[in-house]
Amino acid sequence: MSLKESGKRDGFTSKFGIIAAAAGSAIGLGNIWRFPYVVGENGGGAFLLVYLGFVLLLGIPVMLSEFVIGRKAKRNTFGAFKEIAPGTLWPIIGVMGIVAAFVILAFYSTIAGWTLHYLYISVINGFQGRDTAELTLMFEKFQISTFLPVFWQMIFIILTAVIILSGVKKGIEKYSKILMPFLLLLLVALSVRSVTLPGSFEGLVFLFKPDFTKLDSTVILGALGQAFFSLSIGMGALITYSSYFPSRTNLSNTAFEVSIADVVIAILAGIAIFPAMFSLGMQPEQGGAGLIFMVLPNVFLQIPGGYFISIAFFILLSIAALTSSISIMEVVVAFLVEEFNILRRYATLITAFAAAFVGVFCTLSWGAFENVTIGGRNIFDMLDFTASNVLLPVGGLLIVIFVGWYMSHADVKDEMSNQGALKLQVFGVFRFLIKFIAPVAIAIIFLNAIGILN
Ligand code: PFF
Repeated sequence: MSLKESGKRDGFTSKFGIIAAAAGSAIGLGNIWRFPYVVGENGGGAFLLVYLGFVLLLGIPVMLSEFVIGRKAKRNTFGAFKEIAPGTLWPIIGVMGIVAAFVILAFYSTIAGWTLHYLYISVINGFQGRDTAELTLMFEKFQISTFLPVFWQMIFIILTAVIILSGVKKGIEKYSKILMPFLLLLLVALSVRSVTLPGSFEGLVFLFKPDFTKLDSTVILGALGQAFFSLSIGMGALITYSSYFPSRTNLSNTAFEVSIADVVIAILAGIAIFPAMFSLGMQPEQGGAGLIFMVLPNVFLQIPGGYFISIAFFILLSIAALTSSISIMEVVVAFLVEEFNILRRYATLITAFAAAFVGVFCTLSWGAFENVTIGGRNIFDMLDFTASNVLLPVGGLLIVIFVGWYMSHADVKDEMSNQGALKLQVFGVFRFLIKFIAPVAIAIIFLNAIGILN
């Protein structure tokens, strides 16, 4: 039965379920795969600092704005704007979000597929006896091949669709809750091993010592894109999720807690990667999208019980990827179900098929389609850049303008305070950030990156 037919919307039940589901959306490949490689490409410490600033000043306010919109409207990301601002152009934000969700799903499933393949390699003990050069070569061969990466990508998309089909509560809440703490523990273990490898200290210096000469407008836009991608904001994934939140959820605390958890996991991933990388004699900008797949197997080989740790790591990373990809797919599915009255299972099938189709082109970006490039970017990089560095920040910009300037002060306050039940200590700060700081900052970063301001 579709949500429309049943007459009521599914929802989350416990407080921990809500935070776990939102954190499950935020914490994923963005933290563990994307963060280390964009930090590597963008010069390390200075990028990290700018990224942290963006999470605090722009990310948390955008996330909270999405929560306000979603829980107030209780609709999908397009329907939410139609509900709050009927007869206006604001629902275009929803359309942009759906496009972004679709694009992200396509390339996200590529990397999730790599993760599943590496889980398989771990199980068959395939890293054993290989040195750094051989492990790098093994990855590169896999990356340019056709059958295997596409096969694993399809498996991942099917898994995502199956969870989506099992419904919101049972599906998302159950899977997110138990597993994320284990991922945290494993990352701590990997970090400890990484920093105790010989010659690893340089890696910590790279990650934490800011070299401001490395900052330019592209690096700054990259930090903004990483912050938005990692926090799952700017396209309405969290509008959709918060539309299932009960009325007693404390939105400000949830936004704060989810963002902090997200940052902690990303930094831990950085500590697991960079020291090991310097110890292995690799250059930080060298790995590209394959960075973690080249570096981490070396670390697993140097840990007692590394066989089991690598299996556990890739299982947990696959699950972290799944809890994120279901939030991405849910944006499109909820839109199709609620706006076009399509049955949930058909909406899921349509979305999965379409994402799989575009996804194949992403996966073959290093192989069959390696020659399809624009300005040095292959298909994968183009889609990643467009979604993360353009669509999400523009979406975020419009979302804060919507909450800051279009919605009434009283409505926003009511929603944030649960109709007056909660004391709002940070309302003034939030309002100032979304009305002035966030829109101006995002606009300047863009104009700068396009070259208009310099
Ligand atoms: N935040 C997820 C991650 O870090 O892996 C990816 C993501 C999910 C991006 C949902 C955007 C989104 F709306």
